[in-house]
Amino acid sequence: MFKRFRQNRKDEATRLANRETFLKNEDLIMPIFIVPGENVKEEISSMKDVYHYSIDTCLEDLKLFVEKGLQSILIFGVPNDKGVEQAYDRKGLTQNAISAIKEAFPTLEVIVDVCICSYTHDGHCHVGDNDKTCELLAEIALSYAEAGADVVAPSDMMDGRVHYIYEKLKANNLEKKVTIMSYAAKFSSTFYGPFRDAADCAPSSGNRKTYQMDYANGDEAIDEIQADINEGTTSIIVKPALIYNDITRRAKEKFDKEIVAYNVSGEYNMVLNMVESGQASEEMIFESLISMKRAGASRIITYFSGWILREGKLV
Ligand code: PBG
Repeated sequence: MFKRFRQNRKDEATRLANRETFLKNEDLIMPIFIVPGENVKEEISSMKDVYHYSIDTCLEDLKLFVEKGLQSILIFGVPNDKGVEQAYDRKGLTQNAISAIKEAFPTLEVIVDVCICSYTHDGHCHVGDNDKTCELLAEIALSYAEAGADVVAPSDMMDGRVHYIYEKLKANNLEKKVTIMSYAAKFSSTFYGPFRDAADCAPSSGNRKTYQMDYANGDEAIDEIQADINEGTTSIIVKPALIYNDITRRAKEKFDKEIVAYNVSGEYNMVLNMVESGQASEEMIFESLISMKRAGASRIITYFSGWILREGKLV
């Protein structure tokens, strides 16, 4: 006597009936890079089909994506000029983008990346002192919240930044309206290379190993997530995603919080290169994204969002 697994695989309909994990349009969080100016839509040289948008062209393209079912975006402001005080300017680039997008698409969830690496002259995510950086991040998060962001997403990996941001939101009566999606388990990864061109934030010297996590550490990732939950985060980002599915699974089993997988720029290029060079079929994109959901992510931040929505690949 043996079990006949293959009965469940005999044709497409049977396989679908036995499927455990699905990827839906609502699972996609689309990263958006905003630059100053008007009528700008430029493909990012290191990332195919990902664009630098000025606010006006971003609104035009978002219309199409929202019609196709896009529910959430993650905004990165990419200013021309450096200087951290610009990051919390109430009339700054990112703040203007948030309010314009919220006005045009009130039901679209607007998540905003909170970090200063596009604003510092050395491209690092801090200003030297950990706690001073947290104070800055809290002020930036507040300015995004006031502009209408639904969610603020600190990606810097300073100690205590969720605490500082939560307390700042609370002091301004915004802690119930605006939630925190922290990059709680963010590893110091070689897979961020292409993004650093997109956000103009490559460190001019050194690396990010004194603040982002050592990629050899899993238990520490769980401690980081626990700390962010204690400090007031609502959702957890695991980043990168594809080769960190073990962390996603552990987080899913341990914590009763939303887990979001960030399918980062290097992972995007790796899979896209395979598909475009003909070494793999398009299905590789879905196989890699489904693996993140199978691991326990409820949503995925992915540069494939635009293509998936435009081509109507999912329901
Ligand atoms: C900035 C930030 C980075 C990413 C998101 N926010 C770069 C970094 O930490 O070096 C990476 C995203 C990607 O590679 O897709 N703090």
